[in-house]
Order: sequence, then C-alpha cells, then structure tokens
Amino acid sequence: MKAVVWRGERELNIESVEDARIEAPTDVLMRITSSAICGTDLHIYEGRMGDFNGNVIGHEPLGVVEEVGPAVVSIKKGDRVVVPTHICCGFCYNCVRGDSASCLITHPGAAGAAYGYPGMGPYKGTQTELVRVPFADANCLRLPGEPGDDWEHDFVLLADAFPSGYHATELAHVSTGDSVAIFGAGAIGLLAAYCALFRGASEVYMVDYIPERLKKAEELGAIPIDFRVGDPVEQIREMHGRQRKSAGPTWRGEDIMGGVDCGIDAIGFQARDRANPDREKPNQVIEDLSRLINPNGRLGIIGVFVPNDTRPVGEIEKQGNLVVPWQTLFKNNISIGMGRDHDERYNTQLRDMIIAGRLKPGRIVSHRLPLSQAPSAFQQFDARANGYIKVILDPHQ
Ligand SMILES: NC(=O)c1ccc[n+]([C@@H]2O[C@H](COP(=O)([O-])OP(=O)(O)OC[C@H]3O[C@@H](n4cnc5c(N)ncnc54)[C@H](O)[C@@H]3O)[C@@H](O)[C@H]2O)c1
Ligand SMILES: [Zn+2]
Ligand SMILES: [Zn+2]
Repeated sequence: MKAVVWRGERELNIESVEDARIEAPTDVLMRITSSAICGTDLHIYEGRMGDFNGNVIGHEPLGVVEEVGPAVVSIKKGDRVVVPTHICCGFCYNCVRGDSASCLITHPGAAGAAYGYPGMGPYKGTQTELVRVPFADANCLRLPGEPGDDWEHDFVLLADAFPSGYHATELAHVSTGDSVAIFGAGAIGLLAAYCALFRGASEVYMVDYIPERLKKAEELGAIPIDFRVGDPVEQIREMHGRQRKSAGPTWRGEDIMGGVDCGIDAIGFQARDRANPDREKPNQVIEDLSRLINPNGRLGIIGVFVPNDTRPVGEIEKQGNLVVPWQTLFKNNISIGMGRDHDERYNTQLRDMIIAGRLKPGRIVSHRLPLSQAPSAFQQFDARANGYIKVILDPHQ
C-alpha cells in the first residue's frame, strides 16, 4: 500500500509499505477513504519530536471496514467507521471514566496511545490506504451514508479536530452567555469557536494573523482579531467594552470585568512572538490570556506542549519548563484545564449533531487532495500559505 513516510526534517516521501493486517482477534482492518493532516503532524514534520525515520505519519482516518477479527462483536465488514486518534481499550481504569486519551492498555507502561505519533505506541500512521484498528469494538464509531457523500469531511473530523475543538470548550467551561477569546485560528481554534457559539457563548473573539483563517473565523460567527494591528488583548477589551456600553449599564463596578470569561490557547508551544512573528515564544498566548481573562474566569489549553522539543527557544524551555504569570492567574481565581482530547468521550454525540444537521464541521476544510500530493500539501500547510487551513488526503485518487 502507498503511505506518507517521514524521511527527515520537512521531508516526506510517498512510499510502498507493507499492507496493514489483523494482528489480534479484537482488531479490524479499515480501508481509508479520507485521512486528514493535523497541526500536530507538523510537529513531527518539522523534526521537533526527534527522529521518526521510516514511519508513516497521520492519525485522523475515516473509512470502511474491510476485515474483522474473530473476537470483534459489534462491527461488521462493510461498516463505515471513524476511529479516534487516541486509541483506547474501553475497559481500563481511565477508559471507563471517559478519559480515553490516557488509556492504560493500548500503550503498556504509559497513559495514552495514538496512531503515527512518536512516543505513543507502535501504531502506524493513517496517511495511507489501510489501517489496523485495535480494540475495534471500543474504537470504531459507526456512521451512516456512503464514502464520498456530503458527510465525508464532517465525519473525518470526528477522528480528532472536532472533538478537540469541543474539548477545548469543556476545558474552558464555556457556557451560555460567556464571552470567549480563542488564540490560534487553525482547525482546532476554528472548531473551538464553532463549538463555543453552539454552546451559547455571547461573543467569541478569534486571534491570529493569517488573513484566510481570520476570514474563516468570521464566516463561522466569531469576531476576527489580527494581532498585527495591535495588542490583541487591548483590541478585545476595547471591542468588548464598546459592545457592553452600547447595551447600557448592567452591573455596578462592572468595569473591572472588561475582559472575557473564557480563554482558549489553540496553539501550544509553537506560539509566535507577536513582536516578531518569525520567532516562537511558547508563553506568548498564556501571557496574553492572563491579561485578558476576567476574575473567576477559565483558561483552556488544547494546544500541545511537546516533551523534549528538539529546538527549544531557550534554557527554560530546554528543561521542559514555561514561565507563566502564576500570581495573576491565582489572584484572579482562574481555573485552568489542559491536555489531550478524550475524543471517545464526545464523538458519538458530535456524530449525532452532524446527522441531525445541527453542526457541519466540514465547513473548515480548505483542500481535498490526492495522497500523492501530501509532500507539497505539508509544505503549504506548514507555511500556513495560500489558504491551507485543513487538508484532507484521498488515498484513492
Ligand atoms: N490536545 C489535543 O488533544 C490536541 C488535538 C489536536 C491538536 N492539538 C494541537 O492544537 C494546536 C493547533 O492545531 P491546528 O491543527 O489548529 O494547528 P495550526 O498550526 O493549523 O494552527 C495554529 C494557528 O495559531 C496561529 N498562531 C501562532 N502564534 C499565534 C499567536 N501568538 N497568537 C495568535 N495566533 C497564533 C497560527 O498562525 C496558526 O493559524 C496544535 O498544537 C496541535 O498539536 C491538540
Ligand atoms: Zn490531529
Ligand atoms: Zn483503556
């Protein structure tokens, strides 16, 4: 089968690799119809996670079951399914509590496994034609329709991006009437904005500096904030203040609450330094959000902070540390949530919202390309150039 194989920093090849096959009785084999590229893949692509030579990349597949292991009970050949990035068993201490991204069985000796990801188990990546799905009864989410139908791009996002966007709003406890600021208008930030609005947020601000992404944010109903225009914290405070004042006085002493109720970091360790966007400043967004979130507000961090970054920006980061304004966060009673998305916790409900026509996450997909074009797609996506926001690879084109 053809697959996208990592051969070095920013170097991918389309290669023939050994076909995936059933290895345990609880496995199924899935033929992939769509496989998405994620911001997380860029950390590997750029070599920030170390050597990955010869490995297949990717962790967001949608497809049809081709072969079923003898111990699988609920999945049949021909079922259309999506599987979560974080491979779960369904029966361990963490899985039964809904914390599937910390499964204890699928990557023995650690908490959490994933496809095509260094340090998260032996599972091959999914930017290919066939994938082995372990513990198929727990992982396969059955879907209606046919490959290539109008749901194809909505359903492929159930593997990771859509539940991650939703999880971000859970981490930040977004609720009816809340004002929300999201930093990073990639797929995760955009879907977090989409979910925040769906959950009843009164205002959602989206900060970035890539014009096509800000435009997409606006299309989804968020208020775009370009950090090149000026400090995004000041811009949001001013805009929010104007909105509140035009509504007339509500609470006495309200001026102190001139920021937002919820903040989301949808970028992680590769946050750009606003003073010079050619540089990284991993604590940029947490600093900004600490200045922006109101007393008693909530901060959700969905952007990844990788362990053992191969090109840390400084000594502190090299030690695996980050300088954050802890005193401000404490003084303001800010609740902080972070971590990997327990995709399995949400994907059934999100699937049903898609089927009911209430949500259409596929709106953020910018490109569908043949798998053979993965190397150039990665290049463009990595440069956040030419409107590359979310790319879906088609292994059959
Ligand atoms: N926690 C999880 O389970 C989980 C799941 C999926 C993805 N992720 C992570 O979420 C993050 C986002 O993923 P994505 O696919 O949307 O990536 P992406 O790289 O496409 O998007 C990041 C965006 O942040 C913007 N940005 C950079 N610095 C900024 C700054 N200082 N202020 C405002 N915007 C800034 C970039 O221009 C870019 O548009 C990545 O770190 C990814 O690894 C986490
Ligand atoms: Zn992903
Ligand atoms: Zn488990």
